[in-house]
Amino acid sequence: MEDFPKLQNDLILRAARGEVTERAPVWVMRQAGRYLPEFRDVRRDHEFFEICRTPELACEVTLQPIRRYAGLVDAAIIFSDILVVPQAMGIEVIMDPGHGPVIPNPLVDPSHLNRLPGHVDVYKELNYVFEAVKLTRHRLEGKVPLIGFSGAPWTLMAYMVEGGGSKTFTKAKTWLFKYPSETKKLLDRITSVCVDYLVAQIRAGAQLIQLFDTCAAELSPHDFMEFAFPTYQVIASEVRSRLKHHAVPEVPFILFAKGANHSIELLAEASGWDVLGLDWLVEPSEARLLSGGKVALQGNVDPNALYGGREAIAREVQRIALGFQVDGKSKGHIFNLGHGITPGVEPEDLRYFFECVHKYTQSRTDSTS
Ligand code: CP3
Repeated sequence: MEDFPKLQNDLILRAARGEVTERAPVWVMRQAGRYLPEFRDVRRDHEFFEICRTPELACEVTLQPIRRYAGLVDAAIIFSDILVVPQAMGIEVIMDPGHGPVIPNPLVDPSHLNRLPGHVDVYKELNYVFEAVKLTRHRLEGKVPLIGFSGAPWTLMAYMVEGGGSKTFTKAKTWLFKYPSETKKLLDRITSVCVDYLVAQIRAGAQLIQLFDTCAAELSPHDFMEFAFPTYQVIASEVRSRLKHHAVPEVPFILFAKGANHSIELLAEASGWDVLGLDWLVEPSEARLLSGGKVALQGNVDPNALYGGREAIAREVQRIALGFQVDGKSKGHIFNLGHGITPGVEPEDLRYFFECVHKYTQSRTDSTS
């Protein structure tokens, strides 16, 4: 592996291992994005996937929130998109400003499975991501760790079948109910690309990885067990054994199965992931109880609290901080929103959110109580 600058802030790595930390580390999903004027400036001159594919540009936008919120944010996340995985599988994806991603030729039924390549060489198809990771590790100068990520198989399948975002998931659900065994074949194909992709990001220098199963909430608990949960187990165990094979040290694994709060206990016990990312629909204290200290937890302020003004931001950060604390200490908790930050947020309100996290998550140091 490359020789990177020495890490100066390992707060998120310690929290991910479940340790007591002096305060909770914090980052936000989509922290490099349209709410930042400096991101919109780059976007004016460059198409979305052009930014993803140009390491200099991806690195630049990854660093934007780290520069703006210097000393306040504890991790960077590599700028990319979950839909680069379908692209690597030969599926065209267009980013339509204002509408989000569009897949002009979706997988309509199982006869379309033979459109997918037999083998996907991520080192060829997604090399630009690994180059961006390396460059960003250098340019971060060790200030904070860098997170790599992938979409989870079910969420990626949903996009590949629906042809874009969806409110009803009718087409993806049709696959689940009408073609369950072909659905599993498709999920297996995606799973194997996710494994290669995550391993390659870690080998390139990613210091944590996060799996985004943004559409997990669409599945009944039964279908979640059938079509999502097994993919988490396979990805975690395969990535770990590949790292061992390459003699690459392990990094913390964060699983964000949005809305899968019916299965927190099981995810903590048997998914093989180190940290569970939580949306805002579960009380921190309940998540603590259900996870039984077996994993660290990440989250979970409602992203819309950032529209509520300073008082609401302070109130929510304080409430969530207290909910996660154990005996007055921040323990195994990574502070975050319950989903990505949205484009209308005022950047100075996010700064205030970070300041509140620094203020309200301090671990009590007196040893008497
Ligand atoms: O967190 C970060 O700052 C890293 C970058 C990142 C992006 N997308 C950049 C992006 C990450 C981690 C993602 C993940 C992603 N992409 C997910 C999972 C997490 C989530 O938020 O649910 C999903 C479902 C996607 C697919 C996707 N990409 C959608 C649905 C959209 C449109 C929504 C929107 O906000 O416009 C995108 C576009 C996208 N991805 C943008 C950014 C900054 C905005 C596009 C633009 O600049 O025009």
